[in-house]
Amino acid sequence: MTRHLLEVVDLTAAEVRAVLELAARPPEVLGRPLEGQGAALLFEKPSARTRHSTEMAVVQLGGHPIYTRDEEVGLDSRESVEDVTRVLQGYHRVLAARVYEHEKLTRMAKVADVPVVNLLSDRAHPLQALADALTMEQVLGGPLSGRLVAYVGDYNNVARSLAEVCLLLGATVRFACPHGYQWDDAERERLQALGDVTMTGRPAEAVAGADFVHTDTWVSMGQEADAQIRKQAFEGFTVDDALMDLAAPDARFLHCLPAYRGLEVAAEVIDGPRSVVFQQGHNRLHAARAAIAFLLGIRP
Ligand code: CP
Ligand code: NVA
Repeated sequence: MTRHLLEVVDLTAAEVRAVLELAARPPEVLGRPLEGQGAALLFEKPSARTRHSTEMAVVQLGGHPIYTRDEEVGLDSRESVEDVTRVLQGYHRVLAARVYEHEKLTRMAKVADVPVVNLLSDRAHPLQALADALTMEQVLGGPLSGRLVAYVGDYNNVARSLAEVCLLLGATVRFACPHGYQWDDAERERLQALGDVTMTGRPAEAVAGADFVHTDTWVSMGQEADAQIRKQAFEGFTVDDALMDLAAPDARFLHCLPAYRGLEVAAEVIDGPRSVVFQQGHNRLHAARAAIAFLLGIRP
């Protein structure tokens, strides 16, 4: 059966653990499962980390990545998602895409007989979450299970995927999001079925005693028209030193990047000793390589 990675929960807890184990291994140990084969990387939005880490992951697995912006492919504008998928899978062993509407990925996966990988959608950012988990376990030098992970900010694609990976690994998740930017009841029930996760409107409450504090931009790609409204709504949600001081004494700060200093995070935090954001960014490569290898049938 063809496996896809559109959301973290496309993997079981044991499979997440397997991907993290693969990510910790030197690249050559995974072999070259993409030798002589291609990987299509389609982008409807800009990217630095995801493009470069996924391209290099494909290269390290022996394959040839082809990066294409949507101006050329035109998912649902030049031709349908389904037609693009059926054609490109004749050239490539993996199809990966960064899209506005998550539904484009589910439609792609429905007709694809090669793995489809989500490179960020409005719903999820699974490769980011796998890199986040890898980073937290590197910091701990052991499993994330039983640890407290706080996320302060917008309940968005990054937040959702982070919660999924943390809950699958047995961590507790505490969200602090402003009213109007929180989960809905269905989403709360879905996540609470995975583990211990709560939502508050008070950052100090979520961060108290946390081992890790995460945030993300208040204005995701595609939300630029709402930037002013959002910046007002998120006032008081900046992760600064005073907030970090409420976390565990050796707590670490994570951010998927790009970051907006002075908004979701103060420079003193992201550029300070508690920040592991560049280690986290570098781990995107290891997570991408491991996830693609896993989808191709490589196991630890
Ligand atoms: N974190 C992340 O996905 O960054 P890019 O948008 O640069 O890929
Ligand atoms: N939530 C952000 C993440 C960027 C990597 C966005 O979707 O733009």
